[in-house]
Amino acid sequence: MSKIYHNKLVNAREMVKAAHEGKYAIGHFNINNLEWAKAILEAAQESNTPTIIATSEGAIKYMGGLKTIVGMVNGLLDDLNITVPVALHLDHGQSLEMAKKCIEAGYSSVMFDGSHLPYEENIAKVKELMDFANEHEVSVEAEIGSIGGEEDGVVGEGELGDPNQAAEMSTTGISMLAAGIGNIHGKYPEWWKTLSFETLQDLQAACNMPMVLHGGSGIPQDQVKKAIELGISKINVNTELQLAFRDATRTYVEAKKDLDDEAKGFDPRKLLAPGFKALKNTFVELTQMFGCYGKAK
Ligand code: G3H
Ligand code: ZN
Repeated sequence: MSKIYHNKLVNAREMVKAAHEGKYAIGHFNINNLEWAKAILEAAQESNTPTIIATSEGAIKYMGGLKTIVGMVNGLLDDLNITVPVALHLDHGQSLEMAKKCIEAGYSSVMFDGSHLPYEENIAKVKELMDFANEHEVSVEAEIGSIGGEEDGVVGEGELGDPNQAAEMSTTGISMLAAGIGNIHGKYPEWWKTLSFETLQDLQAACNMPMVLHGGSGIPQDQVKKAIELGISKINVNTELQLAFRDATRTYVEAKKDLDDEAKGFDPRKLLAPGFKALKNTFVELTQMFGCYGKAK
């Protein structure tokens, strides 16, 4: 048995490797439904930008399951004639079983998030996953330390990553490494000031490989740029797209456009259109900031 995923999907290995070498970061965008997937793919194609579409375990449950997601994403890749590199990625996979199920269903990239486990168990599981992932040409992301806050039931204390662990993880064959560097999932609280660049520098010196910045929503631009300079090659964004969608939808509703029955303002294709547009605009703004905008060959 070898590659399972659909021809048009690619794994994330080459994308993040090129980003690491070229000092930019690939945008990883969490999706929730058809609007999210379609907006990201359209914006990626229009801007010639390689991208990663990701689903948390919570989003997989919400959308019905893996077959629905794999079918929807592959259908859009064909129907919209998408030619830029796109990876379909499991975000914060909590078990090897889930990571393997995603690979079998047609994902081209998976994260095994063993940050809730003792480190020895975390790396043992990463190594076990690598055999299966390599056999199917799927890229793997692992995590050390943890990301603060909560995302879809995944809670972290925000422990900083350990350079010795980063060095050891880099020998397992993973394509990218996530680490706690003072980053937090969700909206950054008032008291939060900065990423720990010292930690990032030490981790990068130890592993010299593409690193992943989780909690990518709402980090000031100068910090994003500095993080990329220091080895961040993939930035995960979820909350920022949700806020952009919320704001645009709120404007539509507050203008009472949904109540205009004559104009059929209640039609979901109209009601969701401003949010859809906001998702595309946010994709463009963020990918320009990350430097991956227009980087598809
Ligand atoms: O794994 C996904 C992310 O880390 C997204 O974090 O919701 O803070 O953008 P965010
Ligand atoms: Zn995350």
